[in-house]
Amino acid sequence: MKQPPKVVVLGSINMDLVCTTEQRPEPGETVLGTGFTMVPGGKGANQAIAARRSGAVVEFLGAVGRDLFTPRLRQVLTDSEVGAARLRSVPGSSGVATIVVDNGGENSIIVTPGANARMTELDEADLATIAGADILLCQLEIPIETVTAGARHARAHGTTVILNPSPVRELPAELWREIDVAVVNSGEADRFDAALDQVPHVIITRGADGADYRGPDGDLHCPSPKVRVVDTTGAGDAFTGALAAAWHRGPEQALAWACAAGALAATELGASKSIPDAGSIAELLDDPALNPGSDR
Ligand code: RIB
Repeated sequence: MKQPPKVVVLGSINMDLVCTTEQRPEPGETVLGTGFTMVPGGKGANQAIAARRSGAVVEFLGAVGRDLFTPRLRQVLTDSEVGAARLRSVPGSSGVATIVVDNGGENSIIVTPGANARMTELDEADLATIAGADILLCQLEIPIETVTAGARHARAHGTTVILNPSPVRELPAELWREIDVAVVNSGEADRFDAALDQVPHVIITRGADGADYRGPDGDLHCPSPKVRVVDTTGAGDAFTGALAAAWHRGPEQALAWACAAGALAATELGASKSIPDAGSIAELLDDPALNPGSDR
């Protein structure tokens, strides 16, 4: 058996404060909630955990603050066997996401970046970690300058760069140039327009309708397995982390694996909590041979 892929995630980690309610409030409206839970999240941490649960060896580069959430945020990484040696602790509060989930499993999210906004430097050890990885996986919940510096260094050292440009922000041309694979939500793809044309591999995620790929290997569509949706929070992160872990298998297999991971993540409440492991994904696909950790 060959080595599992090495994935470095450069991104955010948040404490998610999750309220469930029958219907999300309209502007100015107050509604009663049906439940509350606190779950570690953040697009970076969720994707790191997803890649790990899909069999990759994962290192996380990010920042937590110094507050009551810090121990729990560190713990979720170590409990998930995500390398956290490069996780820094910076003064002030940790990232927090306030999330409302309705009966249909749809959500509204406000992210207060906290420590994630202070992830402004990559030191020599961070850069060496990136250079030694197969894949650098980034999102946009930390400063774009840091993402750009990480992507540039990755590209210069032959590390594949996967970007999930979420939450949507305007990206500098110098960042687009460094991207090998973009994973974009269908509702947001129009916002990037022609910039996506210069990215070699583009994946458009379509929720329950699966995902589309276009790249040197042609175009393809992958349907999503049908599941009972409880909470879509973090489903896109489960998809993207699983995709990174399976990327070496080629777009077709990676997409099938990622669609199954995203679907399973929507069946449970709580972002990092709902991320499936390789066994559950292979079971849903009814094909253990697709497991990216099994042969490389
Ligand atoms: O993608 C879901 C994530 O977005 C949540 O975990 C929340 O922290 C926000 O970053």
